[in-house]
Amino acid sequence: PRNVTRADDGALAVAGLGVRDIAAEYGTPLYVLDEDDLRSRCRDFRAAFPDVDVYYAGKAFLCRAVVRMIAEEGLHLDVCTGGELATALSAGMPPERMGFHGNNKSVAELTRALDAGVGRIILDSFTEIDRLTALARERGVRPGVLIRVTVGVEAHTHEFIATAHEDQKFGFSLAGGAAAAAAFKVLDEGVLDLRGLHSHIGSQIFDASGFEVSARRVLALQAQIRDARGVELPELDLGGGFGIAYTTQDDPASPQDLAKRLRKIVDGECAAERLAVPHLSIEPGRAIVGPAVFTLYEVGTVKDVDGIRTYVSVDGGMSDNIRTALYDASYSATMANRASVAEPMLARVVGKHCESGDIVVKDEFLPADVQPGDLVAVPGTGAYCRSMASNYNHVPRPPVVAVRDGRPRLIVRRETEEDLLALDVG
Ligand code: LLP
Repeated sequence: PRNVTRADDGALAVAGLGVRDIAAEYGTPLYVLDEDDLRSRCRDFRAAFPDVDVYYAGKAFLCRAVVRMIAEEGLHLDVCTGGELATALSAGMPPERMGFHGNNKSVAELTRALDAGVGRIILDSFTEIDRLTALARERGVRPGVLIRVTVGVEAHTHEFIATAHEDQKFGFSLAGGAAAAAAFKVLDEGVLDLRGLHSHIGSQIFDASGFEVSARRVLALQAQIRDARGVELPELDLGGGFGIAYTTQDDPASPQDLAKRLRKIVDGECAAERLAVPHLSIEPGRAIVGPAVFTLYEVGTVKDVDGIRTYVSVDGGMSDNIRTALYDASYSATMANRASVAEPMLARVVGKHCESGDIVVKDEFLPADVQPGDLVAVPGTGAYCRSMASNYNHVPRPPVVAVRDGRPRLIVRRETEEDLLALDVG
């Protein structure tokens, strides 16, 4: 995070507050949120995309305090389940500033979104068009909707592969004609208010050309709809997926660079197709919250295995960060409670779970004198760590502490064994 420093005693401090104090008060493992960092990333996006609605993708990490932070910073919010919707509503997020995603929204979820007055619902299937149309008719309302278009650009870290027809569960295929058919169906039925098209090409993307290809393709569809039905859709959402640096090898584009490139493509394509430039929106999740958080663990054991490698076991693991095991994701780790002049030693930071794949950081140099009781910080854990946390091995999920101006604030409390046992009703 931006406001992390090394204090005189060699310990890490966030916004002036030492991590030993945080660990002493809240225990480990825990997620530490640098609140000013998160807020400044919201502002960076808004400054870079001044006339664009920035929807924070709540799936990256959502709790009431974060909903309030992003709302105060002028962001919109993308939710994708009833649970996320409930969290956002209970934090007072204005429903008209929310978008509702998902490939299998239930009748109950859609009803709730309609009753709450959610600003836009992103349609993902013909089943859903029928479902929402029926609900809207019953209620006599006309919800704003977008059509999620699968543009045939599959973007991965450092690369994108253009495929003629994407074989995946989200959205309406562009190549197969389903996207156009969906737009015509919604327009012809006239029950839902079709505001525009939507495309999201993937996550942790560094190569902005994927966004450019996708913007070109959805705008071509926009022109096709205009030619067929005489309607120019007023909005366009280009999704999220902007990559962040997990290690020093990653080199993400700044929001400014992204904004410039997207603007240029959209303006150029609209001019070529003689389209009015639609009102744009984007949906960054990871890029807002990912870098603003680090996980603080306590070292429990240090084991040298036949001189091959040293395993440093911490008091969490795949239950608070599944990304290393699930995506082979790379993280870094650093000694957090003190300075050390010991030689660097190649270590593997592992968790406490009963699986050999329970790895937090595959390879990291830690001081050779790392020992039980030391604190280790793993940065970049704001996105898809707490939100994907589990209770594997009946480990209670860690709390989230926001720090601002040297003051800690518990925003998600630690789960307790009582919380876990409360679900056992047999
Ligand atoms: N919009 C839509 C429609 C999405 O599906 C997603 C992410 C986003 C926006 C936000 O993407 P972001 O800016 O955060 O990359 N669990 C995975 C990531 C899954 C992303 C799912 N959709 C991970 O840990 O890498």
